[in-house]
Parts: sequence; C-alpha cells; structure tokens
Amino acid sequence: MKIGVLTGGGDCPGLNSVLYGILLKISSKGHEVIGIEKGWKGVLEKKTRNLSNVSELDDLHTIGGTLLYTSRTNPYKDIKKIKDPLKRENATKSIAQDLTDRLKLLELDALIAIGGDDTLGVAAAMNKYAKANVVGVPKTIDNDLSSTDYTFGFWSAVQLASNAMDNITTTARSHQRIFVIQIMGRDTGWLTLFGGISTGADIILIPEQPFDLQKDVIDVLRDRVKANRKYHIIACSEGAIPTDHSLKYDFKTISQDIINALPKDDFGNPLLSKLNMSNVLVKELEQCKDLKEHFKIYDSEFEVREVILGHTMRAGTPNSFDRIQGLRLGVHAANLVLEKKFGLMVCLRGEKIEAVPLSEGTQKKLIPLDSDILELRELITRVKCK
Ligand code: F6P
Repeated sequence: MKIGVLTGGGDCPGLNSVLYGILLKISSKGHEVIGIEKGWKGVLEKKTRNLSNVSELDDLHTIGGTLLYTSRTNPYKDIKKIKDPLKRENATKSIAQDLTDRLKLLELDALIAIGGDDTLGVAAAMNKYAKANVVGVPKTIDNDLSSTDYTFGFWSAVQLASNAMDNITTTARSHQRIFVIQIMGRDTGWLTLFGGISTGADIILIPEQPFDLQKDVIDVLRDRVKANRKYHIIACSEGAIPTDHSLKYDFKTISQDIINALPKDDFGNPLLSKLNMSNVLVKELEQCKDLKEHFKIYDSEFEVREVILGHTMRAGTPNSFDRIQGLRLGVHAANLVLEKKFGLMVCLRGEKIEAVPLSEGTQKKLIPLDSDILELRELITRVKCK
C-alpha cells in the first residue's frame, strides 16, 4: 500500500510526533508513506515526497513544526459564495470527487489528513461525497475540536504562554505596570484560560464570555489598586470581544462597524487578531482619566504595556505530553488505515485513543460556561482584589 499524509492549517508542536507515529507503524508493516507537502496545496500541485526511509528521520517526534510544511489552502474557498443550496451541494460533491481523483493519480491507496476543523472538513467531504479512503488526526493549539479531550500541541502552547507571562511578571513588578498579554485562540479561550490561571493572571478575558470593559477590567483594576496591588497582568485572548452594551457605551476607540469590517480568512472567519484587542485595551485604559486619578490616590504608577505572544506560542519543540500523544495518535491513525476503517478520525478520550466519524469530530468545542476551570478563574482572580 501507498499511504499519503498531509498537514494543513497553522502548525503546532507535535505535528512531527504524529508523522513519526504514522511512519513507524506503516513502515513496520512493509507499506510506503508518501508525504504531501503544504496540505491541500500539495494535492492540487502534486508535491509529494517518499518518507519510507524511517531510520533517516531519527527521533522526528522530538522536533517542532512539520516536516511536510503546511498551508491554509482550502479547496472549498469559493463554495460559500454560491447562494443556491443545490448548486452549492453539487459544487461540494464535484470538488470532493476531483480531490479524490487526484489521490488516485498520485497512486495513493489512502490518505491521513492532519489538521484542524477546516482541513478535516475537506477530508470529511471527500469521504462523504466521493467515498475517499481518508482518516483524520485533529490538530490545533487552540484545543477547540470536539470529540478529543485535548488536541496535541495545546499543552506545549499553554506552557509557552505561562512561561512568557511568568517572565513578564518580573518586569511588570519592577515598573509597577499594567501588562495586557494577547494570547492565541481565534474562537475559543482554552489557551488564555489555562495559561492565565497557570501564571496567576489578574484578569482573564476569553471569547466565550464577552466582557464588560467597566465591570470586568476597569473596576477590577480599581479594586486591585485599593487592595495595594502594584502591578497587573491581563491575559487577553485574541478572540476576546466586548458585550454589545459595553462596546456601545464604554469603548472610545472601536465600534461594531469596525468589527464588522474586519477581513475574513479563507473559511469566512473574521480575523479578530487584526483587531488587536490587547492594543485596543491599552488605548482604552490610557484614556481612562478616572482610573488614572484612582491610581494616583493609592500612590500607584499608571503605565500600560501590551505584549502579543502570537506565533511564539506555536514555536519550538513539543513537550513530553504532546510528543507521546502525537505518537499515539499517529500509530492509531495508521491502524485505522491498515484495517481499512475510513471516514474516521482518532481522538483522545481520557487515557485512551479512540475513533469517531470525521463529521462529528470537526465540530467546535467551546469552554462550557459551567466549567470548574471558570470557577477557578473567579476564585484565583477575585481573591487578589481584597
Ligand atoms: O488556529 C490556530 C491559530 O494559532 C489561532 O490561534 C490563530 O488565530 C491562528 O492560528 C493564526 O494563524 P496564522 O498562522 O495563519 O497567522
């Protein structure tokens, strides 16, 4: 058998660990692994590489990034523009068939797609409409894919965010400053919540709970200063948004029109990172005369700085958890292919690696509003206001 493998979407620590798991298992059974470069772009442009010489890839699981390169190429990019549902369905089918035919031209018997909801959505359509022999491995540092307890790369990114914020705390303390730290996570706040709690951030803003500038930021800073706290760390998800009410009445530098006009990615998601919420918060706080006055009364400095962690969070080597999880996911994905169980994706459930239909596994996973982690956030941040 010749089995293709591709990595699509943003990279993350652990991609190479998954690849290595696949390679170890497939080659141990005497089959070939063909790497497709740059995600779906490589399928369209026939960019492939034979990876069967596993011994050359010594301990690949320890190395960050992806050996196969990646891209956000989406073969379904223009599909959303088709208004008529029937025509859209037909176009979806024909793209699925075209991609499946391309796999045959590459002489591949099966494909393992490693990616997030966008990449796996394409794989799911190929399986549904063209019966393609595909298997998925869920990937994103954002941890926002349903059916898997944690996506690989997430814990490495949490550790990076937490380390960065631990370090910033020392300079924040020296200068007695407010630091707004922007953390990746386009639609969900898993990274911000876990990274923020881990470092002991004082305010943690996540997309799942639109925030009120006055109540959730300004009043908390006031309480903290009154409680003799001299520096403040605000962990702000790049997808954090204000409530409609707060946007209308509290914000001076952004409006709903500005949010509506944000550019969208290939999949139609608004690029909230372009809004740069940490920078917006810095500007808003700097315009807050009352707050400045309050800081003065309590003999506190009022200086606000922002740090965008951005792609540093996806960089570097995977931690041990992600290495092991990546390897296990790779081996299990290879098993699905060897057993010819297609249309499935592997996932972590408790201690076990299981399989679910691709279509189920690509749903978004938000932080549940009754999560004990949110209660923990309240406990940890509120106690520092007293
Ligand atoms: O989806 C993962 C992610 O890291 C998001 O947290 C972030 O918004 C996005 O990718 C950044 O994408 P890019 O690397 O294309 O700038």
